[in-house]
Amino acid sequence: MSVVMSVMGGEKIEVHGHRGARAAMPENTIPAFVYALEQGVDALELDLAVTRDNVLVVSHDPEMNERICTGPAGAKTRVIREMTLAELKQWDCGAKQNAEFARQKTAPGTRVPTLEEVLELARGRKVDLNIETKSFSARPGLTPEPEEFTRMVIEQVRRHGLEERLILQSFDWRTLEACRKLAPRVRTSALYPAGPGATGRDYISEAKAKGFAIVSPHYRLTTKAEVERAHGAGMKVVAWTANDEKTWAALVEAGVDAIITDDPAGLIAWMKGRGLR
Ligand code: G3P
Ligand code: CA
Repeated sequence: MSVVMSVMGGEKIEVHGHRGARAAMPENTIPAFVYALEQGVDALELDLAVTRDNVLVVSHDPEMNERICTGPAGAKTRVIREMTLAELKQWDCGAKQNAEFARQKTAPGTRVPTLEEVLELARGRKVDLNIETKSFSARPGLTPEPEEFTRMVIEQVRRHGLEERLILQSFDWRTLEACRKLAPRVRTSALYPAGPGATGRDYISEAKAKGFAIVSPHYRLTTKAEVERAHGAGMKVVAWTANDEKTWAALVEAGVDAIITDDPAGLIAWMKGRGLR
């Protein structure tokens, strides 16, 4: 059976724009999120850090990364948790092109957004928010404790009335467990990496036992058998981060519920060409 036939009549496979749309615009920025919305993504994927004055901000790395951001007065890096929001806002994260993405445009003058700014953007739109708590058990000083971090996210999302559109994802499952207690209706998504340290672990059964709604494995782990096992356990499967047609086809064939991609425009066009959207 062809890829198209195998999903005909089934539920739509969602497209989640990774860090907005990193293939096209500077990652985790408002221009990236606006672009991703214009392409018609079903969800915005983004990462969270917390400033010294306890503001939730959107950043993949807990430190400013000089490969993609320019600091004031020649600063090369600083830990976000050690900066106030005012200090963080002095960094320009739109002026440098990420060398890994040849088509990425720049947007000079772009600042690290707060979660508040992203929620404002999303509020009037039909889009889900796949928000990652970047919490690190080996480096606890980089963020608030997992429970507190999660409480901050939930409270802010609730203030905007967006709880039903939230997916809380994390490699640090402690934040997901906190979410299950604080906001049982919020979908929790258990991220799982590829690589030597990750093989051989039955993360699907572990996630099921903790009551999570979604498993979110690296695309290399996402086989048809694993997807069927997750579905059999009542969980959805959101695979990350797939950026080429061969991988998209394999994930569709495997039966995933959503694909996280840096190139939402490319994936949406590819899906439309195959009757998948
Ligand atoms: O959403 C999954 C994916 O974002 C996890 O990897 O490192 O890009 O945050 P990373
Ligand atoms: Ca992420």
